[in-house]
Amino acid sequence: MDLPLGVQASELLSSQARIWNHIFNFINSMCLKCAVQLGIPDIIHNHGKPMSLPDLVQALPINKAKAPCIYRLMRILIHYGFFTKQKTLENKEEEDGYALTPASRLLLKDDPFSVTPFLLAMLDPILTDPFHFMSEWFQNDCETSFEMAHGRKLWDYVAHEPRLNTFFNDAMASDARLVTTVMIKECAGVFEGLNSLVDVGGGTGTVAKAIADAFPPMKCSVLELPHVVADLEGSDNLEFVAGDMFEAIPCADAVLLKWIMHDWNDEECLKILKRCKEAIPCKGRGGKVIIIDFVLDNQKGDAESNETQLCFDMLMMATITGRERNGKEWEKLFLDAGFGDYKIAPIMGLRSIIEVYP
Ligand SMILES: C[S@@+](CC[C@H](N)C(=O)[O-])C[C@H]1O[C@@H](n2cnc3c(N)ncnc32)[C@H](O)[C@@H]1O
Repeated sequence: MDLPLGVQASELLSSQARIWNHIFNFINSMCLKCAVQLGIPDIIHNHGKPMSLPDLVQALPINKAKAPCIYRLMRILIHYGFFTKQKTLENKEEEDGYALTPASRLLLKDDPFSVTPFLLAMLDPILTDPFHFMSEWFQNDCETSFEMAHGRKLWDYVAHEPRLNTFFNDAMASDARLVTTVMIKECAGVFEGLNSLVDVGGGTGTVAKAIADAFPPMKCSVLELPHVVADLEGSDNLEFVAGDMFEAIPCADAVLLKWIMHDWNDEECLKILKRCKEAIPCKGRGGKVIIIDFVLDNQKGDAESNETQLCFDMLMMATITGRERNGKEWEKLFLDAGFGDYKIAPIMGLRSIIEVYP
């Protein structure tokens, strides 16, 4: 067969490779998940120096007949930058050993910023199954692919399935630890002068606790669905309130919405913003809504960050009714909800901190 007119053989072959790599992206995710489930990052870390293949195999809870496959698993993860090979001295002989990279250090179980709970949640079949229904979803009138896969909405599923409730809350808390640390260091000014703050949809309270500790006179509360805060206890300046943000939000100088707005469509966001406006002091009296979320197309975005934001947008589309928004789309929401002004600061890596004023 002849090549199509004007198409070079090299172009045809590289297009094929590009598609193959895209097809196999899920293999990258699953190899990383496998390494984390086997505990490879922690085992290498606890070894204290680069770890040879035989030592790694010995330490792993695997059927030793499968040892050669560990070499192959490590080879692809080295390719993607999760491990490196370094020279190490074993019994006075120099040999190659596996070492961690900054990315795999973030997968250590006890790292305060560990991404492991997030990885295990996002790659659980409960959250990956809906993607098999996407094309069918485009053709029917179901609200989300998640409902097609599981027969009910995500938040309803979380409320009735303790395993999903736990791993979802752990995943959110692991991200919240990282974001909060950066936020309190880089954006302390956003919280100065506030006497009270309510973290709406604040999960198990990681962000609110950190803010309450960093700004002790401030009274903080977390408004969450009942199953999330059922067994949680507050402290002197932190309380947990079971409720529904679409019904009412407790009054406070500021309402914090971290990773909330991107969960909902515009109509739902407007309802949340209106409840926020009722909860804070009116114009000129210091009230504000603080949003931590992605802003698509912001100037700080590099290619890798843009890719992450676009993937999150698909995650929102497949699992809930939400979406990621660009600056103009955010502005429209704020104005439609009756707010007077806003300020976007793209200072949180992939996410921005947005202050919205009545
Ligand atoms: C994506 S998570 C974000 C959690 C937390 N803000 C964070 O960033 O770590 C969304 C949260 O919204 C909560 N949520 C969902 N619907 C809610 C509602 N109607 N009222 C209050 N919270 C709600 C969920 O339980 C969940 O914890």
